[in-house]
Amino acid sequence: MNIVFFLDEKKREIEKLLNGKKAIAAVSGGVDSTVAAKIVGDVLGERLLVIYIDTGLMRLDETKNVEGILKKLNLNFKILDASEEFISSLNNVIDPEQKRKIIGHKFIEILEREAFSFGAEYLIQGTIAPDWIESGGGLRDKIKSHHNVGGLPENMKIKIYEPLRDLYKDEVRELAQHFGIPHDRQPFPGPGLAVRIIGEVNKEKLTILKKATKILEDKVLNYKMKPWQYFVVLLNDRSTGVHGDQRVYGYTVAIRIVESIDGMTANFMKVDWEFLDEVSREITNKIPEINRVVYDITDKPPATIEWE
Ligand code: XMP
Repeated sequence: MNIVFFLDEKKREIEKLLNGKKAIAAVSGGVDSTVAAKIVGDVLGERLLVIYIDTGLMRLDETKNVEGILKKLNLNFKILDASEEFISSLNNVIDPEQKRKIIGHKFIEILEREAFSFGAEYLIQGTIAPDWIESGGGLRDKIKSHHNVGGLPENMKIKIYEPLRDLYKDEVRELAQHFGIPHDRQPFPGPGLAVRIIGEVNKEKLTILKKATKILEDKVLNYKMKPWQYFVVLLNDRSTGVHGDQRVYGYTVAIRIVESIDGMTANFMKVDWEFLDEVSREITNKIPEINRVVYDITDKPPATIEWE
């Protein structure tokens, strides 16, 4: 991709579409939304308000990290803590599509509120090609409704602008590198850890999953591995374990580590046994609620990368 040419075209597109208007951009902490916000922010300046909504469904320290990145990028931004609102809206919800839709609607509800008070006419989204292709907008059947596509209500009052709509992940990473945005960050789904908790999402499960995720991420870093994506999934079923001489029913977590180019297809990574051994021991030693760790050995297809 010719970056200078692409950015020049986008600049003209933005000037024409958003001539004199204000916009709001939701960033998730991921590469896509940050790049989208930067491209638009560089043209609009103070007329773009960048919002990061802390849903409580992010990884440990995510909010702090995002704040640091946004400061460096010189964008007009705001951090909003909406974790209570999100987590309580997921009470008793177990269906994955339902989770995505609830989270998507909550996002939009909050954004519309913020957009209204800022006077924004447009919402900037970091949607990239695989998002809408897999949401039924293209050739494929609907696979999952990604929150930034399939979950939007039909009567939305705000208009959407998606500057990265035709790009694939590797191209967005090139742009991120150009702007000095950390581009080796792994992709993170909009609905966050909610789609990595099978069954009902609650604070207890989120705390457990955040700790396990941090252990895996640190190990991957220690081993200098560079997978496309690596994460932990908290399963709903309990299984038997032993603590001392007591039989206990604890959680099972699945480790998913995949290699991919654009997320459309993926291969599970053939990692070292020694690495898995360390991850499993550390998770079960440090998190008493977990007593079983399994490794996902499925490619995409037939599985998707995320479990929900
Ligand atoms: P799947 O699970 O569909 O994921 O194989 C493909 C890639 O997309 C990410 N993903 C999402 N990204 N909103 C996003 O912005 C979402 O709702 C969402 N769901 C999955 C996933 O992490 C993987 O990189």
